[in-house]
Amino acid sequence: MDDSPLQVLTVATAPYPDQRHGSGGLRRMVNVFQTRKHYLHNFIQSIFSSIDLRDRQGSTVMVGGDGRFFNQTAIRVIVQMAAANGVGRLVIGQHGIMSTPAISCMIRKCKAIGGIILTASHDPGGPNGGLGIKFNTANGGPASEAVANKIHQISRTIEEFAICPGLQVDLMTLGRQTFDLENKFKPFTVEIVDSVESYANLLRNIFDFAALKELLSGESHISVRLDAMHGAAGPYVRRILCGELGCPANSAVNCVPLEDFGGQRPDPNLTYAADLADSMRDGQFDFGAAFGGDGDRHMVLGKHGLYVSPSDSVAVIADNIFCIPYFQHTGVRGFARSMPTSAALDRVAKATKIELYETPPGWNFFGSLMDAGKLSLCGEESFGAGGDHIRETDGLWAVLAWLSIMATRRQSVQDILKDHWLKYGRNYFTRYDYESIDIDTACEMMEDLEIIITDKSFVKQRFAVEDKLYQVEKADSFEYTDPVNSSLTRNQGLRIIFSDGSRIIYRLSGTRINGATVQIYIDSYEKERLSEDTQVMLAPLATIALKISKLHHRTGRSGPSLIT
Ligand code: G6P
Repeated sequence: MDDSPLQVLTVATAPYPDQRHGSGGLRRMVNVFQTRKHYLHNFIQSIFSSIDLRDRQGSTVMVGGDGRFFNQTAIRVIVQMAAANGVGRLVIGQHGIMSTPAISCMIRKCKAIGGIILTASHDPGGPNGGLGIKFNTANGGPASEAVANKIHQISRTIEEFAICPGLQVDLMTLGRQTFDLENKFKPFTVEIVDSVESYANLLRNIFDFAALKELLSGESHISVRLDAMHGAAGPYVRRILCGELGCPANSAVNCVPLEDFGGQRPDPNLTYAADLADSMRDGQFDFGAAFGGDGDRHMVLGKHGLYVSPSDSVAVIADNIFCIPYFQHTGVRGFARSMPTSAALDRVAKATKIELYETPPGWNFFGSLMDAGKLSLCGEESFGAGGDHIRETDGLWAVLAWLSIMATRRQSVQDILKDHWLKYGRNYFTRYDYESIDIDTACEMMEDLEIIITDKSFVKQRFAVEDKLYQVEKADSFEYTDPVNSSLTRNQGLRIIFSDGSRIIYRLSGTRINGATVQIYIDSYEKERLSEDTQVMLAPLATIALKISKLHHRTGRSGPSLIT
């Protein structure tokens, strides 16, 4: 075997204009990475170049992903480039798989300067699906806007990248591998790890595992159904919920990560996790949960498939926050939600006199508040919730939070939800997604809409549908000034707020791989009518939203691709 030091090469390349690191990183169809020369290399070099050389030299970086097609190929390139860029140690999930919350946990635990996450989260996988590359920084959370902009700037002028093409890593075998590089004094090391234990340990310090075990496998235990949707959450669900907390093995399904997620979209909502909802309909299970492809998102269902909307989920957790021992110790510093998320959480914040922050979508905004000690619990309508134990949305954490509430209150999901609405009233919420819209059409629609709704004459305008009358109270393009570093983030969605507090919001998704996804978020508050059908309740506002935007006329669509 040749044991001479590995060669470090500098390879000339040409920039691409479109390598913007959005809230979910850079997401493209797999074939973009396969067919565009050095598309992957350029972006990875831009990430490494965005880190000051002094910080990068000898540093630790985490790497892992959701197990989708092409991830391992990409990880092998990342290893070769990390070595050539002066990184001292890479910690990688075995087979390249690690859930996003576990990576966030491990970045913090290993004092890494950051992590590269290979995930397109809820977007489809397989050879015809998407691939995503996300850079998380030393706090464990997604890159801030400033870091994302820096990566983008570098990618637009990149001329060369560094790589050790001879370095071949073994991603299958647990343990340490060392490589000697030319011109380097210290060897470059790669550690292949099983992250489940570290992550489980974090959760053990947050929740009362004995109480959860009693709930899930004690004498009068509840029965649960957990669907990992063939994503990265599977191994964690198996080991923590089944292995340690005693759920029967057959209560966890789709726990083997697959490169194409079994042909399904790993998005935990009633459309894509329909199997879970179906299996719960007959009342066999008391609690159900589905997890997104990289284990960050979650959906909670009660008996007979009772749906808990994500906006309600975070509000219920907030109202019962002291059922979670971690918060008994840390206290509660603040609550936050993304702007499109319904205001159910605001009502809890008001009642408990806890500060409430309204941020743009993307966990980086929450991370900034958490780092400053201003935030303990947050959530997004896009099926995300989490605490300040890490800096990512955390599906398993949210499920254990719900189970902790059930264990403490000895109530069903249905009773907990009903009680919540009785106490606070109900925020009905829905989101319409129009996917794969031509980007120019979508941008033009948003530009025209902004002109319409920000015109002075728009405020006080009235819209009547059937017997409902709505008067515009406020309309704007949402912008956010981070209270910690004062950075301003603009163009985060167009809001129409009516005099009764109902809202219509238009926004382009930041995480889609194909064309543009126009999202319309609709919510309204009801104090008395608590058990109505969401779509029926929100139908008049949906009609108004489509009328103002002329969305169907502009796109030729007759309805949304997805309703959540
Ligand atoms: C992912 C991210 C979230 C983000 C969400 C919605 O789940 O982790 O932080 O807010 O996607 O993104 P989108 O731009 O598609 O609405």
